[in-house]
Amino acid sequence: MLVLGLETSCDETAVALVEDGVRVRANVIGSQVERHRPYGGVVPEIAARAHLDLLLPVMDRALVEGGCTYDDIEGVAVTVGPGLVGALLVGVAAAKSLALAHDLPLIGVNHLEGHVCATQLEFGHIAPPLLALIVSGGHTSLVLLAADGRFSTLGATIDDAAGEAFDKVARFIGLPYPGGPEIDALAQHGDPSAISFPRALANDGTFDFSLSGLKTAVVRELRRRQATGEDIDFADVAASFQEAVVDVQVRKTIAAADANDVPTITIVGGVAANTRLRERMGAACTVAGRRLLAPSPALCTDNGAMIAAAGWNRLAAGERTGLDVEADPNMPLSAMTVHGGAG
Ligand code: KG4
Ligand code: ZN
Repeated sequence: MLVLGLETSCDETAVALVEDGVRVRANVIGSQVERHRPYGGVVPEIAARAHLDLLLPVMDRALVEGGCTYDDIEGVAVTVGPGLVGALLVGVAAAKSLALAHDLPLIGVNHLEGHVCATQLEFGHIAPPLLALIVSGGHTSLVLLAADGRFSTLGATIDDAAGEAFDKVARFIGLPYPGGPEIDALAQHGDPSAISFPRALANDGTFDFSLSGLKTAVVRELRRRQATGEDIDFADVAASFQEAVVDVQVRKTIAAADANDVPTITIVGGVAANTRLRERMGAACTVAGRRLLAPSPALCTDNGAMIAAAGWNRLAAGERTGLDVEADPNMPLSAMTVHGGAG
């Protein structure tokens, strides 16, 4: 079954064609990064307008790359939420129109569920249970896909998302947007133990995260050094900040896997592209006897293929979404809990 996946929840206009939930025939992304760069972050109004400009050309390219026409498509999957409302509306309206015009089943997908399903695009259908650390510009959550196919959120950030923290710290030390990859690269030349930044909630017994204090600590430390005239090695700052983020994420992920007896862990979302996170999570999983599935960076960041994969799982399980579905910017993962087909 060939499924078309549309993703417009944030700043990527993404369309993909995925066969049987695992084989990517096309995965096209119209990036808006250049449009948001001057503002140092995603501007919701610009994102919505850019989706309108980009969606049809991106869709056309996906069909050409996939070597198919609308006649070959058997279902349309679209991100319904969570995300920016104006951005979501563009994808949802387009998906409804396509489903109606071509008489295709429509399936609404939760964006976080999509991130988890990116894993099957690289490693094939995965039998749950599966634990996912979802770390992106908008989210930092530990999500469990239980053996019965239900998703639940074990914990999440209580303030900033991980990518947001990377982007803010990068901006403060003068690196361009998006800051995550810049900090990752700079940190390779720094000492992760040079500065001891706080590890908030590291030992609080929950699976929640808090990153705003860390961001403030970095800013304070830089201001202090500027005031006292101390040398500032930005690579050390980047490496020490990154280590503090990664440290808590690895610790909590392993603790969540232990607490829920989950043998398989996946890390997804833009920040899952982080070199140090992949390295440390890999080492920790080996020690803890868990299997780490870390999809390649292109599948970790927002894309249409992950939405098509999640949509395939639901369509294969016989689910359909009505054409009256509405974009839901605050959609909880529990609003769509049952995951079909993957087991
Ligand atoms: O998943 P994504 O593409 O979009 C959202 O849903 O937010 O994630 C984008 C975020 C940005 O904050 C970006 O700085 C961060 O992921 N990011 C990274 C790396 N690559 C992207 N953060 C840390 N290290 C990286 N290598
Ligand atoms: Zn995302």
